[in-house]
Parts: sequence; C-alpha cells; structure tokens
Amino acid sequence: MTMHHIIKSLFAATVLLSATAAVQAAEVEVLHYWTSGGEAKSVAELKKMMEAKGISWKDFAVAGGGGENATTALKARVIAGSAPTAAQIKGPSIQEWGQENVLANIDAAATEGKWDATLPKVVSDVMKYKGHYVAAPVNVHRVNWLWVNPEVLKKAGATTPTNFDEFFVAADKIKKAGLIAIAHGGQPWQDATVFESVALGVGGADFYKKALVNMDQAALTSPTMLKTFDTLGKIKTYIDKDAPGRDWNLATAMIINGKAGMQFMGDWAKGEFTAAGKVAGKDYLCVAAPGTEKAFTFNIDSLAMFQVKDPATQKAQLVLASTIMSPEFQEVFNLNKGSIPARAGVSRAKFDACAIKSMDDMDAANKVGALVPSMAHGMAVNSAKQGAITDVIAKFMNSTMSSKDAVAALAKAAKTR
Ligand code: GAL
Repeated sequence: MTMHHIIKSLFAATVLLSATAAVQAAEVEVLHYWTSGGEAKSVAELKKMMEAKGISWKDFAVAGGGGENATTALKARVIAGSAPTAAQIKGPSIQEWGQENVLANIDAAATEGKWDATLPKVVSDVMKYKGHYVAAPVNVHRVNWLWVNPEVLKKAGATTPTNFDEFFVAADKIKKAGLIAIAHGGQPWQDATVFESVALGVGGADFYKKALVNMDQAALTSPTMLKTFDTLGKIKTYIDKDAPGRDWNLATAMIINGKAGMQFMGDWAKGEFTAAGKVAGKDYLCVAAPGTEKAFTFNIDSLAMFQVKDPATQKAQLVLASTIMSPEFQEVFNLNKGSIPARAGVSRAKFDACAIKSMDDMDAANKVGALVPSMAHGMAVNSAKQGAITDVIAKFMNSTMSSKDAVAALAKAAKTR
C-alpha cells in the first residue's frame, strides 16, 4: 500500500467513523398527540425502530384528541425558531405549513424508497408541497364507524343497526335496559366526528362531498342538512350527562366495560380495544355508521418534516421518513393504531376482521366515488373553515339551538377564509 493509499483509507475510515458517530449522536424530536393507551403503544414502535438505528427519540407529546393542543404548541415552537424535527400534521394543513416556508424537502428518502410507486396518488399529492415530498404518511384511518358492545345489545334485546331507523330502535332498547345508548365525549372535535358521519348517513357520499368538501351553499342550506341536524339533535338525547369534556378514549372504555352500547368514532378507537386485549367480531363489533356502509371517510395521519440546520439531524430526519414508510413499520404501527397501512405492499396476514373490512371497503368506496375526506379530521378543508364549522356543531350540541339556526350558522361558517 502506498502512502497515498494509506492516507486515503485512513481518511475514509475517519469519515465513516464520524458519520456513524454523527448518526449515533443524532436525535429526532417528534411532536404528536398520540397519548391514549393504544396510541402510545403505536408511537412507541417508531421510537423503538429509530433507537435500533442509533437515533435517539425526543418525545414531544401534547395530549388532546384531534390535535388542537398539539397545533397550538407547534405554532409557538415554530414562531420561536425552534421547530421540532417532525410533527403530526395532515391534509391541507401540510400546504399551509409549506407556505410558511418551514418544511423540509425529503425527496431523497422518497426517491430511494420509491414512494411515488408505493403510495396511491391521492395520498402522495397530500404529502408534497410544490411537487416535493415534505411529509410521510403513517396510515389510513376510517372515520365513519360505529363501535358496538354485542353483550349490551343482547341484554337490551337489540340488534346491530344498519340505518338510522334501526339505530334509534336499538338506542331506545339500550336506554330502557338502564344502560347508556351512546358513549360520547363532549369535545368540539368529537361532536364534529359524529356530525360528519350523520351527514354521510343521511345524505350519502355525493351530498357529503358537495356540503362538506366543496362547501356548496345549496347543499349546506338544503333540507338534507336540516335533516342531518335533526338527526344529530336526536342523538344528543341518548348521551349521558357526564359527557362534556370527556376524552374519546374514556368514551371507548364505556363500550369496552359494557356501560354503553354504541360509539361513533374513527378506528383509533380500535387501538383501545386492542390494547385492552379485546377481539374484533367477538368482544366488540365494528360496523359502518348508520347508512354509510358503501362510503368511506378517510383520515390520513402523517408526520411533516421541518427544516433543521444540523447535518446530523438532517440525516436522522431522512432515516425517520424512510422508517415510517417501511412495510415493517406500517404493519406494526397500524396493528396497534387500529388503522390500515398507507402504502402498498404490506401483508394483510396479521390484520383483524375490522382492518380487513376497512381495506376492502376503501377499495369498494373508491370504485363508486364514495371515498371522501374527513372534514372533522382536517382532510377536507383548510383549518380556518374547519374551525368555524366545528364551532357551529359544538354550539348545536351544547345548547338549545334549533336545526334551522344551525343550518344558517353552518352555511355562514363555510364561507370563512
Ligand atoms: C385523529 C388522528 C388520530 C387520533 C385521533 C384522536 O385526528 O388522526 O391519529 O389521534 O385524532 O386523537
């Protein structure tokens, strides 16, 4: 070996060493709101995988379902010039953050992992800002579910409802049996979650799209919207008096322990059943919310990446993005979270009946134009509109506001810019 070669290989070794050292010293700080039992188990899997790659995990968890508190915390950090490495941001909000010029370009990870080929275009479009990847998707949640305790139904002599007529018959029977018919947490985002499933069930996918995605004034002020609020008003009468402020996972716990019969909630609820050791189809049932069997409201969670200065953190950020998109992660995360993988190429083998139903129903809904974005979970409209609409729904749920007034207020809120 010549001196030149020795120097060259020594140099290469040092570079390699420092690169490894840099990665080992690297850290990712991740802001999320996955704090319930099932959610915490899910995010722990990402932490574990990152640590196995020598990258430490700084947890920035902000409790509060639906993520309102987390968004407030994120804004404060970004304004202070100390953005985390990644944050749970989804849907049109990714574009809003992109416009602030604070998101990082992660095309390097996307090209290497062939994301364009493994993600449905509807998903990859949302993950990009001006044609460049800035976020990585972790899952697809279905929102239009009804979670049912079959024992409660049996005790009450009720059957699983498929439409709203049947739903209210079952609810009456459960109430008569001295149990709570509908488990609900009175928080604005949970109110909005129920509302959008009711709108879908009452009006169908085309109505849903017109009213809650396109914000079409004619649909917003239609008799169908009036009927939606009338139905929601009726639902209110089956919710217990302790609902105000209750967290969604505590409402799910009421289904798990047999205090209540049915809950409208996205399939993060399944994460709670799973964490409690309950089996789908036996201990609990997942059925489409009344009247929504053929439709699918989707809610895609993703981690958006923020611009970071330190080269080691930049590298770690790309590792984070690649890890999120790996089939191994998408499988284990979604088994815990109750959702289904966002990417193609993940085996169905370990998924339960509810997840398989979700996968099949998503495909079927897509074919008939009934795959629609969740308004309540930030998939359909910008955050200003979503906030104004959610306020109207929450007001309706917590006051004696008439359906007619709610329709007028909703149509006005939809004009928010
Ligand atoms: C949704 C989010 C889910 C779950 C849920 C409750 O908006 O997409 O991942 O966290 O809120 O917080």
